Amino acid sequence: MATIVGGIGTTHVPSIGKAIAEGKQNDPYWKPFFKGFDYVHYWLARAKPDVAVVFYNDHGLNFFLDKLPTFAVGAGAEYRSADEGWGIPVSRPIGGDPDLSWHLINTLVADEFDVTMCQEMLIDHAVTIPLALMWPSAASSTKPWPVKIVPIEINTVQHPLPSLGRCLKLGRSIGKALESYRQDLRVVVVGTGGLSHQLDGARAGFVNKEFDALCLDKIVAEPQTLTRYSIHELVELSGSQGVEFLNWMAMRGALTGRVSELNRNYHIPVSNTAAATVVYENQAGVERKAA
Ligand code: DHB
Ligand code: FE
Repeated sequence: MATIVGGIGTTHVPSIGKAIAEGKQNDPYWKPFFKGFDYVHYWLARAKPDVAVVFYNDHGLNFFLDKLPTFAVGAGAEYRSADEGWGIPVSRPIGGDPDLSWHLINTLVADEFDVTMCQEMLIDHAVTIPLALMWPSAASSTKPWPVKIVPIEINTVQHPLPSLGRCLKLGRSIGKALESYRQDLRVVVVGTGGLSHQLDGARAGFVNKEFDALCLDKIVAEPQTLTRYSIHELVELSGSQGVEFLNWMAMRGALTGRVSELNRNYHIPVSNTAAATVVYENQAGVERKAA
């Protein structure tokens, strides 16, 4: 049985990739953001995951507006990136786990999530930046990555978008699938993007500290309460790109045990974004034993 060790939520702004390439982690602008990863590194070194299941949204590298699945699951043996046009270095390939991917896909479809299955899938900055933040030495060397990944795409780009409740349920189905996986893998679940930001239109530059704080407070122990917000309310409260919080809801849904927040870092701004980094521990089986 796979063990879900915990969850990580992180912003995925492309300019982070440029800051890494230029070694600017300690510059006054960047330090408040990058220091949020000290705890992530400490926790990952102890949690020792074998696989990262990454909920993210593609921004036009693999899918485009002509064909855009609501939910897509990677089933590749390897994932490559490509030049997205942000002026950041293209990150090196990372291995996948097709056997685990197909197990997740089988469970999702049995649970009536009719996902798109991708045996080839380019991963964009919404996966590569979080990987570089979580495992910086592997990202910048030829050393093997310490994890394999299963990328799961959620459409946060072209309306209609899936609801917060639907994404929470998607995550729960993934959590259930992981718990029934026959191999003894340690799995970290990652949700990328957010928090509040809007890149375009009359409200470009919009952030909402109060709403972000509410989301970060509620998602730990009461994620269900956030499902009262419709997608249109979420756009209004968090910005047109702040809806990337859907990836965080799926991540939270996949944590099936007792969830506690071990670390939170929140900083405005990183580019146009209110940046957040969290680490959630998932104590599997605690509730069942206590009952
Ligand atoms: C920015 C934020 C994003 O989530 C993204 O995908 C691209 C750019 C930004 O704040 O610049
Ligand atoms: Fe984004």
